[in-house]
Amino acid sequence: MTKRANFGSKLGVVLASAGSAVGLGNIWRFPFEAGNNGGAAFIIVYLLCVALLGLPVMIAEFMIGRRSRANTAEAYKILAPRTQWKWVGRLGVLTGFLILCYYGVVAGWTLEYIMQAITNSFAGHSKEYFTQHFVEFSSGYRPLIWLVLFSLFTHFVIVRGVEKGIEQSSKIMMPILFILIIVLVVFAVMLPGAQKGVDFLIRPDWSKVTPKVVLSAMGQAFFSMSLGMGCLCTYASYFSDKTNLARTAGSVSLIDTFVALLSGFIIFPAAFAVGIQPNAGPSLVFITLPNVFQQAFGGAPVLAYVFSLLFYVLLAMAALTSTISIHEVITAYVHETWALSRKKAARIVTSVCIVIGVFCALSFGPLNHVRFFGMSIFDFFDYLTAKIMLPTGGMLISIFAGWYLDKRGVFHDELSSDGHLHNVLYRTLVILLKFVAPVAIFLILLNELGFFI
Ligand code: PHE
Repeated sequence: MTKRANFGSKLGVVLASAGSAVGLGNIWRFPFEAGNNGGAAFIIVYLLCVALLGLPVMIAEFMIGRRSRANTAEAYKILAPRTQWKWVGRLGVLTGFLILCYYGVVAGWTLEYIMQAITNSFAGHSKEYFTQHFVEFSSGYRPLIWLVLFSLFTHFVIVRGVEKGIEQSSKIMMPILFILIIVLVVFAVMLPGAQKGVDFLIRPDWSKVTPKVVLSAMGQAFFSMSLGMGCLCTYASYFSDKTNLARTAGSVSLIDTFVALLSGFIIFPAAFAVGIQPNAGPSLVFITLPNVFQQAFGGAPVLAYVFSLLFYVLLAMAALTSTISIHEVITAYVHETWALSRKKAARIVTSVCIVIGVFCALSFGPLNHVRFFGMSIFDFFDYLTAKIMLPTGGMLISIFAGWYLDKRGVFHDELSSDGHLHNVLYRTLVILLKFVAPVAIFLILLNELGFFI
């Protein structure tokens, strides 16, 4: 087996994992999912999903990764030799692959917005301009260039080896991202007319909670926390034996949730202030944010310029730390299991993802007529991965940890890594992983497939 590097510090472990978790899922996907699903009520269901399903599954992934010290497909072979559990690892790799294909499209959009910010193209424009600009841009061919460029950035980091790169860059980028988000929240909630947006986020309308909303919240929790496909499992294979897995998972979940909520408090007040419908879908962030910058700093063009630029650079970086973590899962698998060099493996992953990503990108324009179950290629990829494959992966991971690993004592050993084991925590986790998570996820999925209607 190849010698595995370790993350250098506790802070590095938390920030690198948070770097994977915090990404477009928080800043781009969370607001539009919340907007499509009724706002405050969605958020409460989301928080329940994070606490009852996401957090236990994250701890389970950490255990599997650190115990096996291998990529996710190998991990199950090592921990459960000669069983069919290996399919969970393989499903994870496939899921990661599909996510990378369409995630790259949105990540590419952030590069376009960086260019727009650099050339000061946002200055002096109104909401109508931003709406029209987004539609024209996303339905054209320019996103393909950005997709390729973004994939090459990811590729470049991957082939150079990511351990040092991920940890160091996360330590620099995450705190800056955090500060910027808070500043933006302050500006957004102070916009005239922002109150309606705040209300939308804090006044739950329970009549809006349908099974569809629960599925969306669960899918969003898995997506945002990078769960259900072995991503954090791969990172955990670089953790030291002393890392406290439960505490690390708690910190990562808190950071991830906090960033998502704060993003909501930027987007919705801003959207309501300029009269954009909260259910605008994937375009929401790309239309409202440039507007916020213009309105919030209207009197100070230099600030508007600097702020837009910084924000899109950071959005791209947040996306990059996430694409790296997904790419790593697939590359490690191709490299080790197909016995190819790491470089070759990365090249294959990048090329295939670009080719499929092109179809996802074009589904906003020339290929919009191609439909799967009524969805465009992009929407279908998003639906299939976030709402079906990640929860399914999460369900299998919790069964594996709760039933298979617990019986073999691995669960107990890994959880008490620093010599202490909180008994209540252990018991609660076992119950959540054995019963609550698998049953809840299974019921929600069955419902989605139409079994109860
Ligand atoms: N969690 C990342 C985000 O919020 C996306 C992601 C999903 C990363 C799955 C890794 C694995 O953007």
